[in-house]
Amino acid sequence: MAVSLGLEDVFIKYTGLTFIDGNAGVLRYRGYDINDLVQNTGFEEVCYLMTNGELPNSQQLAEFKKSVKEHYKLPDHVMELISDLPREADTLTMMETAFASLSSGDYQWNKENDRKQVPKILGENLGIISNIYRHKMGMGLQNPDPKYDYAEAFLRNCFGNADEKKISAMNAALVIYVDHEVPASTTAALVASSTLSDMYSCITAATAALKGPLHGGAAEAAYKQLLDIGNVDNVENWFKTNILDGKRRLMGFGHRVYRTYDPRMKIFKKLATTLEQTDEQKKLFEIAVKLEELGVKEFGGKGIYPNTDYYSGIVFNEIGFPIYMFTTLFGFSRVLGWLSHITEYVEEEERLIRPRAVYTGPDKRDFVKMQDRK
Ligand code: ACO
Repeated sequence: MAVSLGLEDVFIKYTGLTFIDGNAGVLRYRGYDINDLVQNTGFEEVCYLMTNGELPNSQQLAEFKKSVKEHYKLPDHVMELISDLPREADTLTMMETAFASLSSGDYQWNKENDRKQVPKILGENLGIISNIYRHKMGMGLQNPDPKYDYAEAFLRNCFGNADEKKISAMNAALVIYVDHEVPASTTAALVASSTLSDMYSCITAATAALKGPLHGGAAEAAYKQLLDIGNVDNVENWFKTNILDGKRRLMGFGHRVYRTYDPRMKIFKKLATTLEQTDEQKKLFEIAVKLEELGVKEFGGKGIYPNTDYYSGIVFNEIGFPIYMFTTLFGFSRVLGWLSHITEYVEEEERLIRPRAVYTGPDKRDFVKMQDRK
């Protein structure tokens, strides 16, 4: 019996959400190219597109934004819970805890009702992630201001202000990370949703899977790599010692699906230069460009190219976020992808995900009583 370890190349659902061509480096949401969406839309437009299948007209967009803003305010028990968590706790652990606590509300999964929950959960998501940042920074918790759209309200709740370039970069990052078919976190959400668990619990399951360094943690690892190199003159030596001779993996390189440049990486690389850079950030960017050259020269022939996480940490840091927020910012956007996939799955396929395992343990044995055991 063939076992597919890692479910590699196993197709687990049909989807009208996201298309990836890993050889050509193409990513589309509902048929729209990621580059067009980043250039022309804001996060809420993409939320509407993913949830409803079409881009909204201006009235639909205004109504959608309003319904998200109505839920920027978090229930008091969630605010209290976040502020009670130890400040040194991992930000994704805080995210899991906050979403799990919302599942204690009265909402039960109901497939006629599920899409109506999306704006509410997106609003709560903004309150949760911005307050995780505030808590980590030792600031008092506060609800986001519904005067502002999603990206701006988020930055303002984190930093107290937001300029146009940063809002635009935050919007782009949110759009870029929305969905990527069925990686580990989305699969975890699907497994939970296939049992008809509630949507908050599905997000908690997905966040647990995102947390691991083989999935969401690569942006942090790629950024730390640049810090470790420290200076552009050290790139060649570092690459030879650590990657070529040390046989370490180049973080932010390689992808299970892409065999060429990840289209999202190209957008992040450009964004990194449109934002203002401190001398330190300029230096890290130069290191990254030089390292990219060496990496592509060495590994490009094997189809290993920089992925979305290679430059995203630089962009998040230029927006103002410390390393410990990078993976959580990925999750902040991906909540929409998880919601889109679970609603699509439950509405259209509704089949319990329950795979099998091939048994390799001992044959039937006689039971040994306690006194007879060695
Ligand atoms: N650096 C050096 N060599 C690599 C890298 C890398 N980043 N990635 C893959 N390889 C090599 C492997 O050593 C292996 O070589 P071999 O055949 O000589 O043994 C070959 O490429 C295939 O590697 P696999 O791990 O089997 O390929 P897989 O498709 O499973 O890898 C993965 C995908 C896990 C992303 C891998 O490329 C990796 O570990 N990259 C670094 C971590 C990273 O950047 N992750 C972010 C992914 S994007 C995201 O999650 C949003």
